[in-house]
Amino acid sequence: MNPTKFASVAGLLAMSVITSDLAADPVVRLIIDAASPGHAVSPMLHGVFFEDINYGADGGLYAELVQNRSFEHAEHLYAWGTVNREGEGTVTVESADPLNSNNPHYVRLAVQNPGKGFGVANYGFGGIVVRADENYLFSVRARSDAAFKGALRARLEDETGRPLGEYTIEGLNGQWQKFEGVIKSSGSATHARLVVLATAPGRVDLDVVSLFPENTWKQRRNGLRADLVQMLTDLHPAFMRFPGGCIVEGMDLANRYRWKDTIGDIAERKQNWNRWQDAIGNQTAPQYYQTCGLGFFEYFQLCEDIGAAPLPILNCGMACQYESKQLVPIDQLDPFVQDALDLIEFANGPATSPWGARRAALGHPQPFNLKSLGVGNEQWGEDYFARYRVFQAALKAEHPEIQLVTSAGPGVDDGFWKLAWDKFRSGTPADIVDEHYYRPPQWFLENATRYDAQDREGPRIFAGEFAAHDGGQRRASLRAAIAEAAFITGLVRNSDLVVMSSYAPLFAKAGASQWAPDLIWFDNTRVYGTPSYYVQELFSRNRPDVVLPVSVEGAAVSLPPLPAASVATYGAPPLVPYAPQPLPAVFVAAGRDRRAGETVLFVANPYAEARAGIIELRGAARVATEARVSVLTSANPDDGNSFEAPTKVAPREELMPIAGPVFARTFPACSLTVLRLKTTE
Ligand code: AHR
Repeated sequence: MNPTKFASVAGLLAMSVITSDLAADPVVRLIIDAASPGHAVSPMLHGVFFEDINYGADGGLYAELVQNRSFEHAEHLYAWGTVNREGEGTVTVESADPLNSNNPHYVRLAVQNPGKGFGVANYGFGGIVVRADENYLFSVRARSDAAFKGALRARLEDETGRPLGEYTIEGLNGQWQKFEGVIKSSGSATHARLVVLATAPGRVDLDVVSLFPENTWKQRRNGLRADLVQMLTDLHPAFMRFPGGCIVEGMDLANRYRWKDTIGDIAERKQNWNRWQDAIGNQTAPQYYQTCGLGFFEYFQLCEDIGAAPLPILNCGMACQYESKQLVPIDQLDPFVQDALDLIEFANGPATSPWGARRAALGHPQPFNLKSLGVGNEQWGEDYFARYRVFQAALKAEHPEIQLVTSAGPGVDDGFWKLAWDKFRSGTPADIVDEHYYRPPQWFLENATRYDAQDREGPRIFAGEFAAHDGGQRRASLRAAIAEAAFITGLVRNSDLVVMSSYAPLFAKAGASQWAPDLIWFDNTRVYGTPSYYVQELFSRNRPDVVLPVSVEGAAVSLPPLPAASVATYGAPPLVPYAPQPLPAVFVAAGRDRRAGETVLFVANPYAEARAGIIELRGAARVATEARVSVLTSANPDDGNSFEAPTKVAPREELMPIAGPVFARTFPACSLTVLRLKTTE
C-alpha cells in the first residue's frame, strides 16, 4: 500500500493541534482503513514450542519430585544417598531379573541390622519442595527376599532431618509389586528429601520410586506443575509444538525421541538420555535424562487442557546433522513411517482401532483431533528431502486430511533454505514450511517486511522457532522483545501466508539451562515470563480476525549494518551480501476483532526515542469514546524480568479517552502498544 495515499486534511489538522506538546518527538501518522478489510488472520498464528531443553520437562513442567526415580542414569545412584541410622547394610545397583526390559536397573538394600532405619534418600531436582498440610502421592515398585519380615517406611524429611510425614509399606514378597500411598506433609520445606527405610533385616529391591504433589494441574495423576501450565494457559496458544526441537533428532539415532516409548505405565516407559546433556557453547548437564513421564498422551492432554491444537514433530530417519549425522537408509524407513501412521491412529483413530484402543485405555476414548504433523525437526539438504518424500507419499496416501510441516533448515536466506524453497517451487509437495530465525534484534526489524512481497502460490509458512538474540549474553531484554514485536506485526499482516509462529525455547530452569533466551524462567517454587513472553501474550490475546490496511507516514530510519557473522545461520553464509534496510518510523499491524466489534492496532517502536503519533481511523461508522490500551515498555531497553521483579517489564493497561476518528497517542521509546477501540463496520 502506498503510504502517502491516506494523507488527509483531518490528519494534518489534527497534527497541527497536537504537536505543540510533543514537539520534541518525531511525529508519525498511522492511517487505518477500516472500510477495506483484507485477508483473515490465521487463527493458528500464535502458538508455543515445547522442548525438553533447560530442564523444561523432567525437573520442570513434569511434576515428579524424585530425580532418577528408576536408577537409569549412567551414574545409577545420582541424586540418591545411603541413609544409615545406627544400622548395618549395603546399597547396590542390580540388574538381574529386573522389573521389565525397559527398566533394567534397580537398587538393592541388603540389611544386616536396620538400627533406627537403613535405606536410601532422594534429594529431588536440587531439593524437594513440600508445603504444610498438602498431600504427596508416593509410589514404588518393591520386592524382598524371604528373610525380610518387616515394613518399609517412605518418609518426607526436611533439610534438618525432621520428619514431615510417612507412609508404611507392608506385604513385600519375592514378586515385584506396586505400592502407593499418600503422605501429608506437616511442614513446609524447599530442600526436603524422600527417605525409604527398611525396618528389618533382609534384602529389599526398589524401583520407580516416585513422589508427586497431589496439587498438580487439574489434580491429574502423573501430572504437571500447575503454576507452569498456568503460564502457558495465559498465553492463549493456538497450538503446541512438541516434543522439540533437537531432542526429536537425537545426537544419534539411538538417542532419537520415540513416541511409543512414552505412553502407558511410567514403569514401562523407556528412559533416554537428553541430547541437551551436551549443550551448545554453554554449561553441560551430564545428569540430564528423559524419564518420558511427560509423554505423548500427556502432551495431547495438555494441548486439550490449554485449548491448543497439537503439533507433534517426529523423527524422519535422521539424527542431528550437526552431530552424528546418522541416516536411516531410504529402504529401511518403513518403521519410522509406521510410527507416524500409528501416531495419527493413536490421536484420531476410533477406540476400536489398535492404537485408538491404546488411547482409550489411557482414559481418553475421544480423539485428540490431530490436524498437523511435522516430518523431521530442523533438517536440511538432499538427505532430508529424499526421506521427506517417502513420508509425504505414505502419509498423504492414508491421511490426506493431515497437514504436514516440512523443514526449511536451521535458518533463512542461506543455501539450505534456498534448496528447500527450490524444491517446494519445483514439485516437492509441502503444506506448511517450518522456518527458524535466531538472530540479533536488528535482524527482526529489517525482516518485518520479508513476507510482504512473497508469492502466495506455494506452501504456507510456519515461523516455527524464533527469538531475538540480544548481544553475546543473549539477554531476555525489552530490546529483544520489541524487535520480536516489530517482526510479528509483519506476521500478522501476512498471516494469509505465515499461518503459524512460535518463540523458542519455551522454558528454562534457573541454574540448569543450556540455551538462552527463553520465554519462561522457573525454579522449584517460582516462575516469571520474560518481556518476550508478554509480547507473545499481547499478540495472542488481541489477535484480530481480519487484517485492516494501515499506513505509516514518518521519516524512515537507517541503522548501521549488523556484523556479517550475526546474520549467518550457525556459520552458514547468507546467500546474498547483507545490506541493512531502511526501517519504518514505527512497525504496525491492524485488524478487526469481529466478535468484540473492535479495531485492534499494534504499534512497535523499537527506537531510543518516543514517537508522537496521530492515529486516523477511516471508514468506521462510529468510534467509541475511549480505547483500551496495553503498553509494554520500561525505563531501559536492557531491562528484563527476574524472580525478584517478575513483572518489571509487563503490560500496563489503561483506558484512553478518544475525541473522534483522529486522535493522538505517543508511543514510548522501546515499546509495544496495543490499542483496542469499539467501532462499527
Ligand atoms: O530451540 C532450541 C533449538 O534450536 C531446537 O532444539 C532446535 O530445533 C534449534 O536448533
